[in-house]
Amino acid sequence: MIRELAMEFARVTEAAAIASARWMGRGEKEKADDAAVVAMRSVFSTVQIDGTVVIGEGEMDEAPMLYIGERVGAGVDPKVDIAVDPVEGTNNVSRGLNNAIAVVAVTDTGGFLHAPDMYMDKIAVGPKAKGKIHLDAPVISNLKVVAEVNDKDIEDLTVVILNRPRHEKIIKEVRAAGARIKLIQDGDVAPAVAAAMAGTGVDMLLGIGGAPEGVLAAAALKCLGGEMQARLWPEDDEDIKRAQKLGIGDINRLLTMDDLVKTDDVVFAATGITDGDLVQGVRFFGNGARTHTVVMRAVTGTVRFIDAIHKLDKKPFTYRR
Ligand code: FBP
Repeated sequence: MIRELAMEFARVTEAAAIASARWMGRGEKEKADDAAVVAMRSVFSTVQIDGTVVIGEGEMDEAPMLYIGERVGAGVDPKVDIAVDPVEGTNNVSRGLNNAIAVVAVTDTGGFLHAPDMYMDKIAVGPKAKGKIHLDAPVISNLKVVAEVNDKDIEDLTVVILNRPRHEKIIKEVRAAGARIKLIQDGDVAPAVAAAMAGTGVDMLLGIGGAPEGVLAAAALKCLGGEMQARLWPEDDEDIKRAQKLGIGDINRLLTMDDLVKTDDVVFAATGITDGDLVQGVRFFGNGARTHTVVMRAVTGTVRFIDAIHKLDKKPFTYRR
């Protein structure tokens, strides 16, 4: 993929974040999502790609835009597959809580696991622990490894876990091992990525969250040299059928980095809607806005943070109030 495209994908997430941030704290999660979807799709149409959404807002009959299978971009080569979440953490935006991002990952055709809309059990760690952790290992073993490779005491580790009743057991185990936990209400992509980025204060993400979110996070971890291992976590037969329809025969299979993201030609871009572990949220002033975006490519491993000031009166309607 042409490297200049990375900047174009940053523009896509910036537009979605600005549009969604208008709705921050207003208790209107659908409106926050709709605004981001419209903005994201509109900027995508200017990007010189022939893209197919493989992870998106839902099936064609559930979502009017950015649905799975929708073609986006200007319709010219290269052909790429696209994973989007215009608002990752819709509740966070509506309640004004941290860690909501607008996120896009792009790869060659066939590069992403076509993750069904269901749960996935995940562990995410940074590059030093790559190849040394295992989703099925006892929590204490994984914590010991991450502490050792980072030259830290277990007591100084921070593990991010979604605050859900289904995580009662691992929360107890992490605490019993002596590590610290950051319980989050929503939004497990940003902390999974943060686990692989030095200086974020996050060492590991554990627990069950969305499968599409797992693939998005894995795209970033591929760029950062970190690791995610995962397993689909069906709740009923419908989930199993949905996975089978997408070509996942063995639902219990351990999914490795290469299952989640099959190629190194991947780009990841995320813009903060609200402040978080990875990037800062949108700040508005007069007729402008300031955004904070992270963009990375797996081919070179370069990670760029883009701090941008936007003159909204000079931009198309999708950016404006
Ligand atoms: P949305 O942005 O679609 O609301 O998802 C937020 C999220 O918290 C994800 O980050 C996470 O993977 C998933 O939902 C967890 O699902 P649940 O809220 O059902 O536990």
